[in-house]
Amino acid sequence: MSRNSFLSFALSMILVAVGLAASFMPAESASELLTRARRTLGALPKNMETAEFPVTLERVELGRKLFFDPRISVDGAVSCSRCHLPALYGTDGLAKPLGAHDRLNPRNAPTILNAALQFRAHWRGDRANVEDQAKQALIGPPSFGNSDYAAAMMKLKTIPGYTQLFAKAFSGESEPVTPDNWGKAIGAYERTLVTPSRFDDYLGGSENALSNSEQHGLRLFMEKGCSGCHNGPGVGGGIFQKFGVREDYWKETRVSEPDKGRFDVTKDPADLYVFKVPSLRNVEMTPPYFHDGSVSSLAEARAQSRCKTAGRHQLGAPRHSLRAARRGIA
Ligand code: HEC
Ligand code: HEC
Repeated sequence: MSRNSFLSFALSMILVAVGLAASFMPAESASELLTRARRTLGALPKNMETAEFPVTLERVELGRKLFFDPRISVDGAVSCSRCHLPALYGTDGLAKPLGAHDRLNPRNAPTILNAALQFRAHWRGDRANVEDQAKQALIGPPSFGNSDYAAAMMKLKTIPGYTQLFAKAFSGESEPVTPDNWGKAIGAYERTLVTPSRFDDYLGGSENALSNSEQHGLRLFMEKGCSGCHNGPGVGGGIFQKFGVREDYWKETRVSEPDKGRFDVTKDPADLYVFKVPSLRNVEMTPPYFHDGSVSSLAEARAQSRCKTAGRHQLGAPRHSLRAARRGIA
């Protein structure tokens, strides 16, 4: 899965999203563009392991099995892969997915590809990392729906084979079947899901890996300010930002009950309607878009007035609010 995504990389969509494909291109040499892109964006790592969360063969093997197994959910029908399908680039194609007992999730399911690169997990950043996310999914009512961790661990222990696989992956631990180790094993699997593309070859120094029009799109992406928020190797996933800088976003998306975003997590008025800036890696392949899944395709995003406004807020985002967002996480 990790190598087949060169079709789609974040920057191809900018031509669609901004609708400026034919605009004037200022003189900047190809190598200057590459230098700027390296500074602002950056190539993907080989895998996303850290000293705290190592990627070992045993953990990845266990984590991959767990990821696709519905038997640990309360109704026996929900696995991680129900909402994060490999064939749909780690998403499910729905605006908002249904979890155990068909409970509706309040937000859109983002891709799990390259997700471990992000500074926090979830649209509101209420999960520390992919390990924490996987652990809490066990008891999330619209996710696996277990009443508590003990019930989830009991299910795991009664399925033949898992106790041994946990013991192998976490050797030396007297009680290896724990919610934390569930998170670490699935996290280790997720930390292998990197999708290097021609864009990474380009950043690695092969200037011809991107066509002229793709390089033009890259230039626009940086000139129009998109990379002010969508930056780093994930082309996003590094800061929080208010959605709808110029106007309340729900007036455009026409949702009846606006999602207050990070405010509901921190209760800080400055976090009202603040969401994580999503990664744009593989974005062409992961509709629908935005935290509420309210925009179903990048083409539609351009055609619809509500998204033109989204585009405008993004284009015209005042610098001071960007700085404020950065201060917020520092
Ligand atoms: C019923 C659907 C569903 C299931 C099952 C599910 N997820 Fe998700 N996942 C979501 C939704 C919806 C979100 C966004 C939640 C939010 O931001 O409030 C999400 C977010 C995530 C994220 C964060 C991505 C990001 O960009 O912040 C990761 C990683 C993830 N899920 C992995 C998993 C793993 C691992 C499992 C299994 C343990 C799992 N998910 C089970 C729907 C699901
Ligand atoms: C001020 C910061 C900021 C700037 C600048 C910005 N964005 Fe965004 N972008 C966001 C945030 C925040 C979201 C998530 C909003 C939400 O869902 O609530 C987002 C979401 C998106 C999405 C949807 C991704 C998904 O998976 O749902 C696309 C596509 C996108 N932006 C493209 C762009 C483009 C193209 C530009 C430049 C024209 C741009 N952005 C500039 C903050 C920004």
